Amino acid sequence: MPGSEVYGGISGIYDFGPYGLALKNNLKKLWWKKFVQERDDIVGIESAILMNRQVWQASGHEKGFIDELVECKKCHQRFKFDEMRDEKCPNGGDHEFTEPKNFNPMFKTYVGVIEDEKSMTYLRPETAQGMFTNFKQVMETSRQKIPFGIAQIGKSFRNEINTKDFLFRIREFEIAEIEYFIKPGDDEKAFEEWLREWEDFILSLGIKKENLRQYEHKKEDLSHYSKRTVDIHYHYPFGWKELTGCANRTDFDLSSHEKVSGKDLKYFDPSTSSGQVVETKEKYWPYVIEPTLGIERLMLAVICDAFEETKPRTETTEAATEKEIILHFDPKLAPIKVAVLPLVKKLSDKAKEIYKDLRICWSDIEYDESGSIGRRYRRQDEIGTPFCVTIDFDSLEDKKVTVRDRDTMKQDRIAIKELKNYLFEKLGIF
Ligand code: GAP
Repeated sequence: MPGSEVYGGISGIYDFGPYGLALKNNLKKLWWKKFVQERDDIVGIESAILMNRQVWQASGHEKGFIDELVECKKCHQRFKFDEMRDEKCPNGGDHEFTEPKNFNPMFKTYVGVIEDEKSMTYLRPETAQGMFTNFKQVMETSRQKIPFGIAQIGKSFRNEINTKDFLFRIREFEIAEIEYFIKPGDDEKAFEEWLREWEDFILSLGIKKENLRQYEHKKEDLSHYSKRTVDIHYHYPFGWKELTGCANRTDFDLSSHEKVSGKDLKYFDPSTSSGQVVETKEKYWPYVIEPTLGIERLMLAVICDAFEETKPRTETTEAATEKEIILHFDPKLAPIKVAVLPLVKKLSDKAKEIYKDLRICWSDIEYDESGSIGRRYRRQDEIGTPFCVTIDFDSLEDKKVTVRDRDTMKQDRIAIKELKNYLFEKLGIF
């Protein structure tokens, strides 16, 4: 939903309702499970959104995180220069742009009661810096050795020149990223491995392979910290656009923070020889491979990928409309996993009993008794619920329910005492 909608909204800011939040949380949980829970070499942290301004000076963001801003002299709209060359002006013909001006998209704020240069800092535009500044502390307390990674999911803020395409370019968003620390020289191999891992994760969400492609950044377009960046583009309805990326940040960040803070951020390498730890006394700034992913861009991609608008499916004529919408989410992503539906309200006691029992195992169960059964199926198809459980009059006699599959509309008659096992098999433990 547009943020602050009752006041006309606030450009590039969105709020999430119950289903949106559930989808977002499912994506974040799956990411965390794959990259933190299931790996010994990656640990998670949560660093603060506000950081000492010197962080942004050392990281190069204060001087180097720059967009080129142009204004059209005819329509007075402002644009990001590198994206608007072919756009037509709403006042006719081509835009007539002013000379590009540098614009830093970091939001400024003040810490403490006095608003001056000294108290000024920024809302973070990426979560990465918290992982660099805490690198040593986290490595020591979690007893990690190179190669290892730090992972974080968190809010980031960019005052984008223009926001567009719904959740694609917004001003407040969440990034899930990993800083993977390796020995210099091992970076090119690690980069290839991470790019593969990253694409595998996107595919594991059920996104179609033909909707993904890789884009290698040209040397002259690389960010100030990057030796190599490859983006994974998704084929959104508005074109092929960056969904996620992987960068080789070299030792840029750790060496810059050491220079500016004066704190030693090098790694002391205890190499092993025939199973024994041997102190090599080798000290170096690790290189960093950074796979990074915007959660809202991922949400938009999984929604577009799962979306189908069809003619009415023939299940009931009662709820027939011009068209039906189905979200074919992978069950892992679905905001609601199972809907429990009594055929008529008279059956609500039995249906609620089943609903309460399922909720012990899964948090994402919905109960709905309002409207015709056809209409309730449509409603669940539209939010991507993979299974509907229907309780009818026969259920009271044969102790069975009907389980309807969202995609095939196939209906299975299942004994109530077998229902949980049946659903476990389909949904897994997630
Ligand atoms: N730490 C590296 C970094 O921040 P980035 O490519 O600038 O790299 C990371 O941003 C990811 O954040 C992008 O791949 C994209 O998915 C997402 N992202 C960036 N700007 C965004 C915006 N304005 N709205 C939504 N997502 C955005």
